[in-house]
Amino acid sequence: MPSRRSSRTPSSAPARYRRFHAGTQPDYNFPPYASTQKRCPTQPLVLPPQTISEITGPVFGHDDVKPTDNDLTRQHKGDPIGERIIVSGRVLDENGRAVPDTLVEIWQANAAGRYPHKTDQHNAPLDPNFSGAGRTVTDAEGRYRFITIRPGEYPWRNHYNAWRPAHIHFSLFGEAFLTRMVTQMYFPGDPLLAYDPMYNCIANEGARARLVSTFDWETTIPEQALGYRFDVVLRGREETPMEKMP
Ligand SMILES: [Fe+2]
Repeated sequence: MPSRRSSRTPSSAPARYRRFHAGTQPDYNFPPYASTQKRCPTQPLVLPPQTISEITGPVFGHDDVKPTDNDLTRQHKGDPIGERIIVSGRVLDENGRAVPDTLVEIWQANAAGRYPHKTDQHNAPLDPNFSGAGRTVTDAEGRYRFITIRPGEYPWRNHYNAWRPAHIHFSLFGEAFLTRMVTQMYFPGDPLLAYDPMYNCIANEGARARLVSTFDWETTIPEQALGYRFDVVLRGREETPMEKMP
């Protein structure tokens, strides 16, 4: 996590954020996703007023993110096992405007569907050449780009024969604390999506579809890697569904 921060100061009173549309974000309690029942709020939520403190805030500077931090295939001595892919896209605000200079972080399983974390005891091999975490900062047009390995599916014991679809976790800081987002990107045509409670806890079909990347011929590199595009909208009507972690 970068440590150096600077502040954005608005020249006039900042506009408030619009609320998202019903059904486009996951429910706090979705019984098919078992652990939501243990952590969902039991009291009505309190909406804090949106003042300058919430609408503006610290942003992360370029200094702490190295240009190579976005290449997850170059973090160790050797090449990781698996299929190289390019994941890129744009970060947009609720009005479709680019969000520049925002920190984008990803984490994911390796090609065999295993995280290098002690709580992950899936009987699949670790890859000494793949840590599965990267970060970058969006450019002036809100663009980001990662080089990584296509993650494998993995079991998660939520229900009988439960397997997570292939996915990449995303964290975006946006322009202020209220635009921070944690979400997951999926791959087009994955047959496991139909069985996944995390994906299906979002009631609105169009909102669910915003979590699925698209194959991108333009960013595919001959002889090297397939490209996938994943745009993220931080707030508003087209908001990308985010994880609710009360
Ligand atoms: Fe995961």
